[in-house]
Amino acid sequence: MQDFKKSAVYQIYPKSFLDTNGDGLGELKGVTAKLDYLKKLGVDYLWLTPFFVSPQNDNGYDVADYRNIDPRYGTMADFEELSREAEKRGIGLMLDMVFNHTSTQHEWFQKALAGDPKYKDYYIWKKGRPDGAPPTNWESKFGGSAWEYVPQFDEYYLHLFDKTQADLNWDNPEVRREVQDVVRFWMGKGVRGFRFDVINLISKGSFEDDRQGDGRRFYTDGPKIHQYLKELNQATFGRDPGIITVGEMSSTSMENCFRYAGADSHELSMVFSFHHLKVDFMGNEKWVLVPTDFQKLKDILFSWQQGMAEHNAWNAVFWCNHDQPRVVSRFGDEGEYWEQSAKMLAGVIHCLRGTPYLYQGEEIGMTNAGFTDLSQYRDVESLNHFRILRDKGMSQESAYNILKVHSRDNARTPMQWDGSENAGFTSGTPWISVNPNYKAINAAAQVDDPDSIFSYYKTLVQLRKEYDVISQGDFAPLDPENPSVLAYRRSWEGTELLCVSNFYRKPCTWKCPVDLEGYQVLLANYPDSKPEPEMELRPYESMLLLRRN
Ligand code: GLC
Repeated sequence: MQDFKKSAVYQIYPKSFLDTNGDGLGELKGVTAKLDYLKKLGVDYLWLTPFFVSPQNDNGYDVADYRNIDPRYGTMADFEELSREAEKRGIGLMLDMVFNHTSTQHEWFQKALAGDPKYKDYYIWKKGRPDGAPPTNWESKFGGSAWEYVPQFDEYYLHLFDKTQADLNWDNPEVRREVQDVVRFWMGKGVRGFRFDVINLISKGSFEDDRQGDGRRFYTDGPKIHQYLKELNQATFGRDPGIITVGEMSSTSMENCFRYAGADSHELSMVFSFHHLKVDFMGNEKWVLVPTDFQKLKDILFSWQQGMAEHNAWNAVFWCNHDQPRVVSRFGDEGEYWEQSAKMLAGVIHCLRGTPYLYQGEEIGMTNAGFTDLSQYRDVESLNHFRILRDKGMSQESAYNILKVHSRDNARTPMQWDGSENAGFTSGTPWISVNPNYKAINAAAQVDDPDSIFSYYKTLVQLRKEYDVISQGDFAPLDPENPSVLAYRRSWEGTELLCVSNFYRKPCTWKCPVDLEGYQVLLANYPDSKPEPEMELRPYESMLLLRRN
């Protein structure tokens, strides 16, 4: 397997990847069927979102059995076949472990409900207030209170997400031991990586009312988080240096990430942080429509690049995942400059210091869902927040316009394989509507075209393997206050790489602060881009300029 600093990870949302049995849901066999496509793209690891037994209230992030595969996704034999076939192609599987919470259908929670004290202590229970109200004013990330009342105990249990996702009590050593067993179980199946879901929320601090926010400051990057991660590392994946890990860090701080992903901290290989994607939010509030704050986007990206490098810690770099709108719709252009903007955004991410993650469909420039009716939405978060907005008095139309922009379902429509019915995803009825633009945007139209978005991504994945300046180089922002251009420089042992992008449709003139003597175009999204001291950058024009040592 490749060094993770030279690798790229491809994220698969199996439910929407490829359906091979006509039930409208994708499954593991669908992933196996497309390994050659992924090999062609050149990715090293496949992160598969959870396919464990689950009632699917949060599409598998509500796990009812960590060791078995949900029949909707296939069988253990299917998993083993996928693992074998991936390995043959030099691709490792990365599993998505959801250990902050379990489904309330999990045997542990069911035993807890039945009154077994051992299992009751696997979860977090508190008495309500004297008037019967929940113990604290914390809000669930999916809307409403984070506490659910259970009459037979006259107590509430904590759920930071849906009420069917009960938070585990990591302060109980038995819980930590169970979690270790699960990780070792999957290591025994040859898994090469793990993504840990919202892992920085596992250590809860004090249970008090939050007078400033929704409660997150009491449980985010909590008091024992580093201790618990070190312990998990030592007991499981830390014993196999070939395994890579990434933690999903919700509302985290950079100081904590220095430790989560520090080269010598023995916690995780790298982290996902999300601050750079909250630049079209109002503070932490996602369910609003505000324009993207481009300066903030750059400030955050650049400060994380520099900060993590100074502390010898490693980022996962990405625009897209199953929880984010499609980046070409978000920061690019779905229309005339679809291709140029998708390539520009790809170049910006793939030349950063960190391990790049691509989300299925990103490599062909898939766009937001294009739903025209509320009934097309499936996501629990979107549907809850739609109701909350309506309850606050917002018109149906305004609430719906917010969903169109921010809903997680934007990323969850089926992968567009070709121009045939249902984009070649299923012969049945897809569980969520296919984007109507599949005849124009699909993989078949792009894999063999050297000028396609797919080929651009493929080249970027390859360049990281070839050039140490991309995988190892130092990072420095260029002209960071420029209102249209995102530019930076990477340097390594005398080799220099500049990444220069016009982030907008409007052409602009850019004076390069670096002497361009000796620089050549390594890759660009216009056929005739040239390095010039004063560049006339066309809509979304982006170039990578290289000067060898
Ligand atoms: C993570 C997942 C998201 C899920 C949540 C709760 O943020 O990426 O899809 O809903 O955790 O498990």
